[in-house]
Amino acid sequence: MIDVPATQRVDAQRLASMIEDARQRTYELTDDLIDARALGPQLSIVNPPLWEVGHVGFFHDYFALRALHGLPDYQQGDAERLYDSSSVEHDDRWELALPDKATTYAYLGAVREAMLARLPDSGLASEAQSYVYQLTVLHEDMHTEAFTYTRQTLADAPPPLPAESPAVPGGGSLDGDVAVPGGEHLLGSDAEVAFRFDNEKPAHTVTVEPFRISRAPVTNEAYRAFVEDGGYTRPEFWSEAGWHWLTEAGLKAPLYWRRDGQGNWSVRWFDRWIPLAPNEPVAWVNWYEAQAYCRWAGRRLPTELEWEVAASRVLTGDASALAPGKRLYPWGNEPFPDSQRANLDGVRLNTVDVGAFPDGDSGCGCRQMLGNVWEWTASRFDPYPGFQADLYQDYSEPWFPEGRRVLRGGSWATRARLMNNNHRNFFLPDRNDVPSGFRTCAAAN
Ligand code: AVJ
Ligand code: FE
Repeated sequence: MIDVPATQRVDAQRLASMIEDARQRTYELTDDLIDARALGPQLSIVNPPLWEVGHVGFFHDYFALRALHGLPDYQQGDAERLYDSSSVEHDDRWELALPDKATTYAYLGAVREAMLARLPDSGLASEAQSYVYQLTVLHEDMHTEAFTYTRQTLADAPPPLPAESPAVPGGGSLDGDVAVPGGEHLLGSDAEVAFRFDNEKPAHTVTVEPFRISRAPVTNEAYRAFVEDGGYTRPEFWSEAGWHWLTEAGLKAPLYWRRDGQGNWSVRWFDRWIPLAPNEPVAWVNWYEAQAYCRWAGRRLPTELEWEVAASRVLTGDASALAPGKRLYPWGNEPFPDSQRANLDGVRLNTVDVGAFPDGDSGCGCRQMLGNVWEWTASRFDPYPGFQADLYQDYSEPWFPEGRRVLRGGSWATRARLMNNNHRNFFLPDRNDVPSGFRTCAAAN
């Protein structure tokens, strides 16, 4: 038997529909891409689409079919040699003799059928199956977000639109800070959380000092003022590492921004240019850019502790203290009850105004803690005290020494089922190719 962490058992039908749903998204995002260019340019920040699709199938194969169900061999004999991200070096992914698209999709299909065949006809799956099947689906979800931002990176066509894009409730800007009182906070996911990644554990109590955090992420309009005030030419706003990155990158504004002769800004959205939307969050900026903006604005990034407190806690009636307990989602404990709480799941294909989704406000009064853009925090991606790697050993542990930064909250391209207030994403501070923005805190209380 494999060793899986404590996980709530999930209805088999739900696991089956998660598997189908994730796979449908993979097809939507990759079918045309592989025809256009199976491999594409060799960049450190992207994978060749044909390889990445095979890798998604391999992950299910490796953990669900082999590790969980003990199938003696891979569905396809050389899957491990081709698709194991832990052993196939990034640069080598362009050099492999990869099977063609039809063969690769057939491999994914065979693995999926074998997984579905091993689900009970009805009722709850075992704890081990619930854990592993969710793990492999959520891994596919992470790659469907990556397929989305690879399309942005390479200026491909936008993903084929979903049949219907749900309405956006509210809009406009949302200024000001909320004052959050200090207190004790249980950082991370405890055993009440149905599915937990290793880096969210163990939940542990820490003290947070009072802080003031913006109700909404920094908008394009606010960031434009920084850019037009010489933000990208004045070293005093940048850390040494940040200035080094900027010099190498040679940017005068965020990666996807461009200004015409009249001084109007546009942003590249996949393969086309659209006007910069003033009230949408600045996106596709890295940690260095977020830090530089903060220094210019006399603000600072929240720590991940502050971010989690602002997302998950409720204030007492007179707002003088944090009420006990924490919520798993800003709006409560119900997982994404409808599309009106957050811009998640890739269905809107872009950011929306920071003032949208008032029904998704947190108990502290912060908007869009989930969805729209990933939010950089000041915190390094470190293990919580007592960390232990789970079944997928290379999910978190190899990256702790790298000095990655924590991002919270998910983007418009993140699947809702992956997200809650405790979820930690992590990228190197120079990554400006992910749908990331940030919100800020008052520098002093
Ligand atoms: C958690 C998003 C940083 O994309 O490198 C995918 C997710 N890990 N396959 C990444 C992941 C293994 C990971 N992030
Ligand atoms: Fe992966």
